[in-house]
Amino acid sequence: MGCLPVPARWPLKRWLRLGLIVLYCITLGCAQEKKVAKSKVGEKVGLPCCYKIPSSESLQNYRVYWQMNVTDVVLAYSGVQKILEHPRYVNRTKLDFENLTLWISGVEILDSGPYQCIVQSLQSSPDKPGSHLLCEEPVTLFVTADFSKPNIEREVTASSCESTEMVVRCSSHGGFPKPKIYGVLNNMSVVLNTTWESESSLSPYNVTGTLWLNVSKDINFTCFIEYDGLLTSTSLLLAKANDCIVSTALPSYNVITASSIIIITFLLAVSLAAKYLPRHACSHCSKNQASTEDVKEIMNSPHSCKVTCEMSSL
Ligand SMILES: *[C@@H]1O[C@H](CO)[C@@H](O)[C@H](O)[C@H]1NC(C)=O
Ligand SMILES: *[C@@H]1O[C@H](CO)[C@@H](O)[C@H](O)[C@H]1NC(C)=O
Ligand SMILES: *[C@@H]1O[C@H](CO)[C@@H](O)[C@H](O)[C@H]1NC(C)=O
Ligand SMILES: *[C@@H]1O[C@H](CO)[C@@H](O)[C@H](O)[C@H]1NC(C)=O
Ligand SMILES: *[C@@H]1O[C@H](CO)[C@@H](O)[C@H](O)[C@H]1NC(C)=O
Ligand SMILES: *[C@@H]1O[C@H](CO)[C@@H](O)[C@H](O)[C@H]1NC(C)=O
Ligand SMILES: *[C@@H]1O[C@H](CO)[C@@H](O)[C@H](O)[C@H]1NC(C)=O
Ligand SMILES: *[C@@H]1O[C@H](CO)[C@@H](O)[C@H](O)[C@H]1NC(C)=O
Repeated sequence: MGCLPVPARWPLKRWLRLGLIVLYCITLGCAQEKKVAKSKVGEKVGLPCCYKIPSSESLQNYRVYWQMNVTDVVLAYSGVQKILEHPRYVNRTKLDFENLTLWISGVEILDSGPYQCIVQSLQSSPDKPGSHLLCEEPVTLFVTADFSKPNIEREVTASSCESTEMVVRCSSHGGFPKPKIYGVLNNMSVVLNTTWESESSLSPYNVTGTLWLNVSKDINFTCFIEYDGLLTSTSLLLAKANDCIVSTALPSYNVITASSIIIITFLLAVSLAAKYLPRHACSHCSKNQASTEDVKEIMNSPHSCKVTCEMSSL
């Protein structure tokens, strides 16, 4: 009874196992071919090697080459002895004596490119006399440098009551690698007319995107800079210029005229009041006060005169 289902199950198990093996091989193959390391300018990065020295042994029995651009030696060790070092990498590299990782510090844009780790055994064995290759593996280093936050400038070229024509420029500088630049108007992606500036293909880039626009209402513009999967952006509200002369300019003119008339009238009234009012009040007041008593106090403080006078007139 227990044996009956087995033949029926076998094919499925086999297929699953086969599928797993195929999947495993594909992913392994892909990983081997596309092994990459990423770093930013100035940082430290470790490039993995294909061999790990067993804890029972030391580097003594191995020769390790780290190469770049296929044949340029960056760093080479024979045993624990450094035998070669590329002038551009002096004081910037370190080999992990156990897993043979190449550590590069102060990474530069020029460091980006294909690397290769080559490990040889110096020990002869009966089947492999002399030194022999243990493994070699490529790894590609991608270096990025951050772009500045995009700067958006706009210049109105023509404007009417209905629409505003403008040139919008978005620029960013000092990044690597060569970026993509695109804009988003409200929710719609737009292509920008793009120019790149760089001294060479391995130098920092400056990028500028230009867009000609004719807007009939305020619109939100966002400029994106994309480089090696990284993104930086800036948003700006592109306001429509208000050039409707009939509806806007006249009222403001009227308001200014009206308010200046009011202010001038008020100033005139105040100066007239200042000229005549105190004299009348005081002459009238001083007579009153002098006749009663305390002449000295009135002489010393004309304000009290005005106050008492106003009070008396009430
Ligand atoms: C190698 O060893 C170093 C330090 O022991 C570790 O940081 C690094 O991740 C290792 N690399 C690999 C590829 O195992
Ligand atoms: C690899 O090639 C690039 C471009 O030709 C060069 O700038 C760089 O110095 C080379 N790297 C080494 C280690 O020679
Ligand atoms: C590397 O470091 C040594 C000692 O710190 C120093 O004398 C030498 O000038 C450095 N070389 C470079 C190329 O920086
Ligand atoms: C933009 O899209 C988001 C989601 O996709 C939506 O919530 C938002 O209302 C949209 N805005 C405009 C102005 O269309
Ligand atoms: C992009 O700008 C350049 C230079 O200003 C100009 O020659 C070209 O016609 C523009 N392209 C588009 C599609 O507007
Ligand atoms: C990129 O822009 C920076 C700052 O605006 C400037 O100093 C530099 O010269 C520019 N580089 C190129 C290659 O145009
Ligand atoms: C901008 O739009 C207005 C009306 O919406 C139109 O009269 C004008 O010709 C347009 N300008 C351009 C350059 O397309
Ligand atoms: C413009 O759009 C961006 C991105 O969608 C958003 O972060 C920002 O708040 C918007 N600005 C305005 C003024 O609507």
